[in-house]
Amino acid sequence: MAREPALAPRPGILDIRPYVGGEARAAGVERPIRLASNESALGPSAKAIAAYRALAGEIHRYPDGNAQELREAIGRCHGVDPARIVCGAGSDELISLLLRCYAGPSDEVLYSRHGFLMYPINAMAAGATPIAAPERELTTDVDAVLARVTERTRIVFVANPNNPTGTYLGAGEMARLHAGLPPSVLLAIDAAYAEFVNRNDYEAGIALVNRAENVVMLRTFSKIYALAALRLGWAYCPPMVADVLNRVRSPFNVGAGAQVAGIAAVEDFEALNRARAHNEQWLPWFSERLAKFGLALTPSVANFVLARFPGDPRRNADAAFAFLQARGILTRKMGAYGLPQHLRITIGTGLEMEIVARALAKFMAAR
Ligand SMILES: Cc1ncc(COP(=O)(O)O)c(C=O)c1O
Repeated sequence: MAREPALAPRPGILDIRPYVGGEARAAGVERPIRLASNESALGPSAKAIAAYRALAGEIHRYPDGNAQELREAIGRCHGVDPARIVCGAGSDELISLLLRCYAGPSDEVLYSRHGFLMYPINAMAAGATPIAAPERELTTDVDAVLARVTERTRIVFVANPNNPTGTYLGAGEMARLHAGLPPSVLLAIDAAYAEFVNRNDYEAGIALVNRAENVVMLRTFSKIYALAALRLGWAYCPPMVADVLNRVRSPFNVGAGAQVAGIAAVEDFEALNRARAHNEQWLPWFSERLAKFGLALTPSVANFVLARFPGDPRRNADAAFAFLQARGILTRKMGAYGLPQHLRITIGTGLEMEIVARALAKFMAAR
């Protein structure tokens, strides 16, 4: 008798290597210094926490499936039309939605070699083929991306600034990338770290979305707004793209807690400015320290640094990771990104940065 076929997922799913998030625990340490996930150093706005707490009596209710008030608040704060905003359970969900809606089997999805890993993972989950374009000095190379566009290309993802490199493309380069794409290719600009950037030539993507029909910008509340646990992100889209995403997203994809906290957070400009000022103080401070110890740093405009360690096994990235972890300091290994000589370290509180800098000085000086 012929055997029935065994249960199997769609082709390609078992080729996906699951995403491994940053470590949150260090053995024997009650409160480790957590610098592995680019979370906020200062924590959320007190108003966001109050709004979240105030919701407790209402959690038997479904959330507003259209996140109307949240989209209006985001629209007011960013000067964009709320009808063109689609909210998601983190920008991760929006990355996945874009891929499900615009790419499938036999399609290609372009990203830069050290771009955020959720692009290739979600491309494969949609059945599409991720194509990595080489970078120049760990920065998206517009010409290399454009050279890899084929008639199968459906989406180009650019994290700007990029995680894990911390590098960025100026508005002129992003416009050049867009100008080189056919109108049938969607340019997805993932500006998860936009609020940290203080460069005159940077633009998060709103201006480009306003004048093009094939550009979306993704934003998150997980980084500067410090609401990572609540899972909240948003996409600013051309009307047609918003319509498409709204057809496919699940009806209550953003929880009520995320909605009320998100409104309070996006309206709290004081908290936002504090977080920005904190990063502007400690990013250069920490970068200069690491450079003094002889570590090679990629210039970062975000809330983390990418440090390259020497090849010597006593001083390499794995040894540094273990040395820091043994002292309760959690950083991120970069092997999954093809950068095994690097560690990514988030900018934490001032005290945390001083502790990490001291530990790394000791590590680099040890015989
Ligand atoms: C570039 C980039 N995009 C998206 C995300 C996902 O963020 P969220 O928490 O909104 O899903 C991250 C998180 O690290 C990121 O670095």
